[in-house]
This record gives sequence, C-alpha cells and structure tokens, in this order.
Amino acid sequence: MINSTLFVLTGILCICEVVVRTSAQNHGNKSEEDAIHFYYYPNPLNSSEREELSLASSSSFKNAKLQRDRHAKIIVHGAGGSCLKLDFPFRAVEAYLRAKASGRENYNVFCLDYGPLGQPGPIPGDGLPSIRKRYEYVGELVSEKATKMILGLKANGFVSDFEQIHIIGHSLGGQISGFIGRKIQEKSNYQNMLGRITGLDIMNIFLVYNNEVHLKNQLDLSDAKFVDIIHTSPIGLRGDYGHVDFYPDGGLHQRSCLTKGPVSNVTEMIIGGCSHVIVGKYWENSIDHPNAIKACKAESWERYESKKKSRECRPDDSITFGEYVPKDTRGKYYLDYPLIKI
Ligand SMILES: *[C@@H]1O[C@H](CO)[C@@H](O)[C@H](O)[C@H]1NC(C)=O
Ligand SMILES: *[C@@H]1O[C@H](CO)[C@@H](O)[C@H](O)[C@H]1NC(C)=O
Ligand SMILES: *[C@@H]1O[C@H](CO)[C@@H](O)[C@H](O)[C@H]1NC(C)=O
Repeated sequence: MINSTLFVLTGILCICEVVVRTSAQNHGNKSEEDAIHFYYYPNPLNSSEREELSLASSSSFKNAKLQRDRHAKIIVHGAGGSCLKLDFPFRAVEAYLRAKASGRENYNVFCLDYGPLGQPGPIPGDGLPSIRKRYEYVGELVSEKATKMILGLKANGFVSDFEQIHIIGHSLGGQISGFIGRKIQEKSNYQNMLGRITGLDIMNIFLVYNNEVHLKNQLDLSDAKFVDIIHTSPIGLRGDYGHVDFYPDGGLHQRSCLTKGPVSNVTEMIIGGCSHVIVGKYWENSIDHPNAIKACKAESWERYESKKKSRECRPDDSITFGEYVPKDTRGKYYLDYPLIKI
C-alpha cells in the first residue's frame, strides 16, 4: 500500500516536471514574469470583482480603486494554486472582505498569483535538490515582481509605511513571503521592514539539503517585524522559526482529517495532504471569529497535555490563535483545534 502510493506520487511529480520543463523551454523568462499577477478587490460586497495592478502602465496604480494610507492584506497561494483556488486563498480573501464589509476592518485586500510557476518538479534521478533549485528560482522571480508592486503601493500612498503590510502565505507561498520580506529590507538599505508575515504550514523545502541546515531562503523572524507560523502537517516546516509558532493538534496531523475512514487515514498518514490544506480553513475562521480559538503556551505537545490535565492553561497563559494573535506574543503555542467539516 505504502509502496504503491509512493509510486503513484512519484509518477505525478514526474509528469509535472515534464510539463514545467517544456513550458519553460517554449516561453522563456518574459512569459514566466507575465504569469505573475497582483490583484485587488475593490468591492467588499462582491469577491468576484477583482482588478489587476500592472507595472506596465503608470495609470494602473494612479487610478486604482484603493483606499489611501490603509493596512494591506496580501495573500499568497501555494505550489500549483492560484488566487481562485477555493480552500486557500479565495475563502481567506472572502473572509477579509467580510470583515471589511461589516465595518470591522478597513484594509485593502490583495492576492498574489503565480499560478503555473508553482508546479512542483523533482527531476527523475536527481531528487530533492532539484525541487529546491526550482523553487529558489520561482521564489526569486515571484518576489522580485511582488516587491516592485509593494513599492508601487507605497509610492502611490496606498500604504504610508511598510509596517502596514501583512503578507499571508500558504506552503510555498509562505516561503515566497519570506523572499519578499528580505527584498523589502535590501531595497531600502535595511531601513524598512514589513509589518507582519504569516506562514501557513510553510513548505519544508529550503531548510535542509546535503544534510546541512541552510537558513538563507527559509522564512524566519528576521523577515518582518512580526512573523507567525502555523504548523499543521508533515509537508510543513519542522522547527520554530517565527516570533510565535502555533501547533494545532500537535502540528503533524489534524484531527478533522482523521475521521473519514481507514483509507483516508492511511493517505493522511503518508502524505498529510488534508492537514496541509485545512490550515487555510483555520485562517479563514480566525478572521471571521476574532477571539474564538485560544492556544496555550507550552514547550511540547506532552507538556501541553499535562498542562491541560492540571488546568494550567489559564487565561494569562492562553492567547488568541490566528489573524488576531497579539503582536507581542513570543514562543510556542499548542491547541486542540475543534473538529470541523472539510
Ligand atoms: C531565465 O530563466 C532561467 C531558468 O529558467 C534562469 O536560470 C535565468 O537566470 C533567467 N534569466 C533571466 C535574465 O532572468
Ligand atoms: C459580482 O461581480 C461579478 C463580476 O464583476 C458579476 O458578474 C456579478 O454579477 C456580481 N454579483 C453581484 C451580486 O452583483
Ligand atoms: C483514524 O485515525 C485516528 C487517529 O489515529 C483514529 O482515532 C481513528 O479511529 C482512525 N479512523 C479509522 C476509521 O481508522
């Protein structure tokens, strides 16, 4: 069972690689850049209305239907995704727009789309280092364009300070958010920093290779004023790299993903796909219900379990999970995420 699943997986990844290589050969770099889009949502009552900001025409920024001097939420999808993908980021976009429509918040909402560039691609026989190289290239390319867009937002007064910017990235998108955070610092001679980066089950691709730990391309707490990371699956990064690291259900498998029967359990245990995606739903819920879910400070899942038993997770040891986590929170936090329908 395990072997055949891995075989099928390898097959899928190989097919993707052929597609990626062919398209790269056919279109070259210009079209790779053209595959990157920066959208905003001018109407909080209708998430289907979206407009694209473009660097090619100066009127695109000048005439944008955006509010000035506002906080910005920029959402970045994962490998193989797009801004229209429902689980994430589209429902998170909708949650931010709901908060805006209700008058509770007044930020501008953006989505960074790099669709086809995010296809995975180990080269057969070459293994993991090549996926890493591919994603380093994609991270560089996508973050370069996104950084120019963010500089355009600042130059046109839609944000007045980089600290007003919050980037939320899932999987590979979490790593791309880190690239953007570092570029904003480089391009401002280390005078400016993004306000916040949230990494949702960030893809574990840049950290360890050749049996060494490399921090260069890894999202960490030096990439923004406040970096919060949520760990939910085996695909996600292991280790604490944020100012705060959250571990729902211990951070490897989500309970809501283990309720659908033995076959789904086995797939979940091998690949962790559902647990990797469900974090988008957690994020959406945390925008809609600001103080509903609390997490408890603990060094490990075992310590958390024993704290629960002895009722040590008191209010002063508990904080809000997700979008509304207080920015001065530091350390590791655990929680049992309530069962949800997926
Ligand atoms: C073009 O793309 C290749 C990889 O596909 C990359 O190595 C190279 O640096 C790119 N060239 C430019 C000018 O961006
Ligand atoms: C929302 O916007 C889309 C795209 O512009 C449009 O087709 C649709 O009719 C709008 N829906 C409503 C309820 O206005
Ligand atoms: C799936 O796994 C969970 C956690 O190990 C277990 O509690 C549950 O009974 C399993 N369900 C099935 C149908 O095997």
